[in-house]
Amino acid sequence: MKGSSIISWILVITSAISPIYTQYYSKTVPFVSNAEKVTNLHFFFHDTLSGKNPSAVLVAHGNITGNEKSAAPFSSVYAIDDPLTEGPEPTSEVIGNVQGLWVSSSKSMPTLMAFFDFGFTKGEFNGSSISVFSRNPISETERELAVVGGRGKFRMAKGVAKLKTYFLNVTTEDAIVEYNATVIYY
Ligand SMILES: *[C@@H]1O[C@H](CO)[C@@H](O)[C@H](O)[C@H]1NC(C)=O
Ligand SMILES: *[C@@H]1O[C@H](CO)[C@@H](O)[C@H](O)[C@H]1NC(C)=O
Ligand SMILES: *[C@@H]1O[C@H](CO)[C@@H](O)[C@H](O)[C@H]1NC(C)=O
Ligand SMILES: *[C@@H]1O[C@H](CO)[C@@H](O)[C@H](O)[C@H]1NC(C)=O
Repeated sequence: MKGSSIISWILVITSAISPIYTQYYSKTVPFVSNAEKVTNLHFFFHDTLSGKNPSAVLVAHGNITGNEKSAAPFSSVYAIDDPLTEGPEPTSEVIGNVQGLWVSSSKSMPTLMAFFDFGFTKGEFNGSSISVFSRNPISETERELAVVGGRGKFRMAKGVAKLKTYFLNVTTEDAIVEYNATVIYY
């Protein structure tokens, strides 16, 4: 008797506090912000496929014959956790890491499709990250990737990252790439 009345009280309380969902969208109002900010980020990206402790690891590839000479023939999918450093040397201070995937996505030009989250671990942007979703035509010495979002301080970010290959080992395809990103956020 007591037990069942407690249960009915719980039911009354939960139904009283559960919100009523009537519509999946809010009223649309103009987006007003006078707080847009811009920050430039400059760092080096170290993508290491070779050696005992690679930061980029092949996880899948199509069954294509004829281009096995390349470390990343068309259709190769790599999972990465690459360090980001202040300067170009691998011993330079680490300021964050990139996690995600890249896919060798072109049947003609060497191109990688990038699905990256750049997370920072130092300074003002420690704990924040930017999202990059873009094609990356790696044979061009200067190229750009789209910044499509962000987390933490970079919430709702948009922008562009300009890239320059600083070092490439054509045998192993290990690379060090200079990034200069312009990020606009609220
Ligand atoms: C890969 O392709 C070759 C040639 O088409 C075929 O003989 C082989 O069975 C395929 N291997 C796999 C694992 O699908
Ligand atoms: C970055 O943030 C983490 C988590 O809040 C903290 O443990 C770490 O000490 C911070 N590092 C720096 C260099 O501020
Ligand atoms: C590229 O990597 C190969 C294999 O590890 C190595 O033998 C060669 O010296 C490297 N080349 C450069 C320019 O670092
Ligand atoms: C990065 O890009 C900005 C904006 O285009 C430019 O002002 C700045 O000099 C660049 N920094 C480096 C280190 O290339």
